[in-house]
Amino acid sequence: MRYALMVMALGVAVDATADTPKPAVVIADPAGRCVAPNDVMRRTHMDMLKHQRDRTVRQGIRGEKASLGACVDCHASKTTNSVLGAEGFCQSCHSYAAVKPDCFDCHSAKARRKDVMAGGERP
Ligand code: HEC
Ligand code: HEC
Ligand code: HEC
Repeated sequence: MRYALMVMALGVAVDATADTPKPAVVIADPAGRCVAPNDVMRRTHMDMLKHQRDRTVRQGIRGEKASLGACVDCHASKTTNSVLGAEGFCQSCHSYAAVKPDCFDCHSAKARRKDVMAGGERP
């Protein structure tokens, strides 16, 4: 297995202060490419997801390319299996940007493990 740890440079639209810890945007062993390039993702991922949430819940549309489960599968830490926590991909950047999406109150922050899925469970 390939452990290519890449620490990404950040272009968050927030002023860094000396006391604020930098977010840990580490993409461990990427399983594939993101749904859009980095700069697009940084700027628009919130709209992709929110827009889809409205359409999913109100109109029952599902299975499009910006699936929250797929974000988590690719971006979960290889050590905690989660996108939350101080080093978590989503939470570390959100703490830095001082945003608190409520998504993980309902949605799982854990990657759906392939061995579990292979045993019959489907996302
Ligand atoms: C197939 C795996 C995969 C999926 C699915 C995926 N990503 Fe990514 N994502 C990546 C990889 C790999 C990168 C780094 C790309 C690069 O460096 O060129 C990335 C980059 C990003 C970045 C930019 C990080 C930075 O450096 O600033 C954000 C934000 C992001 N993804 C959020 C999401 C969100 C939100 C979703 C779900 C809508 C998602 N990703 C779905 C693999 C994925
Ligand atoms: C590169 C930094 C970065 C990463 C990584 C990142 N986000 Fe964000 N996210 C932001 C910023 C900055 C905002 C606030 C944007 C604004 O207020 O306009 C935000 C806002 C959001 C929002 C809207 C929240 C609200 O209440 O308005 C959602 C939903 C969201 N992110 C989901 C995710 C998910 C899911 C992941 C992990 C797959 C993720 N983000 C990873 C920087 C990031
Ligand atoms: C109160 C519970 C709740 C909260 C909070 C919540 N969701 Fe959902 N979400 C749901 C339910 C229920 C569905 C429909 C699931 C289904 O039909 O399989 C859904 C479906 C989705 C889907 C389509 C299915 C998928 O995985 O791609 C996306 C995308 C999504 N939500 C994103 C978000 C985002 C982003 C947030 C945070 C801004 C969020 N949700 C917050 C309950 C919630």
